[in-house]
Amino acid sequence: MRIGLLTSGGDAPGMNAAIRAVVRQADALGHEVWGIYHGYQGLLEGDMALLPSRACANILQRGGTMLHSARCSDFHRLEQRAVAAARLKDAEIEALVVIGGDGSFRAAEALQREHGVACAGIPGTIDNDLPGTERTLGFDTALNTAVEAIDRIRDTASSHGRLFLVEVMGRSSGMLAVHTALACGAEAVLYPESTEDSYEHLLSQLNAAWLRGKQSSIVVVAEGDAEGGRAMAVGERLRRDHALDLRVVVLGHVQRGGSPTAIDRIWGSRWGCEAVRRLDRGEQGFYVGEMAGALVAQPLSRILEPQPVPPGDLGRMVSILAR
Ligand code: F6P
Repeated sequence: MRIGLLTSGGDAPGMNAAIRAVVRQADALGHEVWGIYHGYQGLLEGDMALLPSRACANILQRGGTMLHSARCSDFHRLEQRAVAAARLKDAEIEALVVIGGDGSFRAAEALQREHGVACAGIPGTIDNDLPGTERTLGFDTALNTAVEAIDRIRDTASSHGRLFLVEVMGRSSGMLAVHTALACGAEAVLYPESTEDSYEHLLSQLNAAWLRGKQSSIVVVAEGDAEGGRAMAVGERLRRDHALDLRVVVLGHVQRGGSPTAIDRIWGSRWGCEAVRRLDRGEQGFYVGEMAGALVAQPLSRILEPQPVPPGDLGRMVSILAR
C-alpha cells in the first residue's frame, strides 16, 4: 500500500516522532510512505516525495515538523477537496495519515466522507482540545515549557512585589492555561470555558491574595481571541483602574517549539505505529488517541462533537491552593 502522510495546522512537539513511527512501521509491514509537504496546501499543489526510513533519522528529538505545516483555508471549499482527492488518486496513494488538530481532522473527515479517501488521524496540537482523546501531541511539552517560564517569572515577581499576567496559547481552549496555572501555583487563571472568568472575579481574587499578605501574584491568561491578546487587554484595564505596577508576558509561540518531552515522543511513536497497523488491517476513517492511559481509536466522525472543556475542579483548585 502507498500511504500519504502530512502534518497540518499549528505544529506541535512530537509530530516528528509520529512521522518517524509511521514511516518505519509502514516499512516493516511492506508499505511505502509518501511525505506531503506543507499540509493540505502541499496536497493541493502535489508537493510530495517518497519518505524512506533513513529520511527520518535524527528527528525524534526535534520540535516542529520535518514535513512543514500550514493553515489551508482553501480546504474549506468543496471543489478544493475534490482536487485533493484527485491528487491522491493520481499519485496512487491509497490511504492518508493526517497529524494535526481539530481543523485538520475535520478536513480529513470531509475527504473521507465526500471522496472515500481512507483517512487516519494522529492528534497533534498543543491545545489538547480534541474529543475522544485525553492527550494530543505537544501538550505535555508546551505545558512544561510554560511552567518553566513562569517559575522564572515568579522569581522576579516576588523580588519586586509585582503582579504578572502571563498569557499562554489557546485561542478557544483553556486546557493549557488551567494545567499551567495548577502546575505553577498561580494565584488565578482566566480561560474561556470558565463560569468564573470575569474581570470582577479576578479583582476579588487579587484583592483576597493581597489581604492574605501576598506581595506578588501570577495570573495565567488563556490567549482568547481579543485583538492584541487577552492578557494585554486585562493588564491595561487593571493599570487604568487601579494604577497597579504590573507586567504582562505573552509566552506565545515559545510554547510551540522545543524538543518534545519523553511523553510526547512515546505517544507519537505509539500512535504512528498504531495508525499504520490499523490501515494495514484494512481499517479507515479513524483517529488514534489515549483514554485513561490506554491507546484507543475513535471514528473520524467524532471530531464533529463539541471540544472537551478543562475539568471545572482544576480551575477551582487553583484558587483554593493559592490561599
Ligand atoms: O492550535 C494551536 C495554536 O498554537 C493555538 O493555541 C493558537 O491559538 C494558534 O495555534 C496560533 O496559531 P498561529 O500559529 O497560526 O498564529
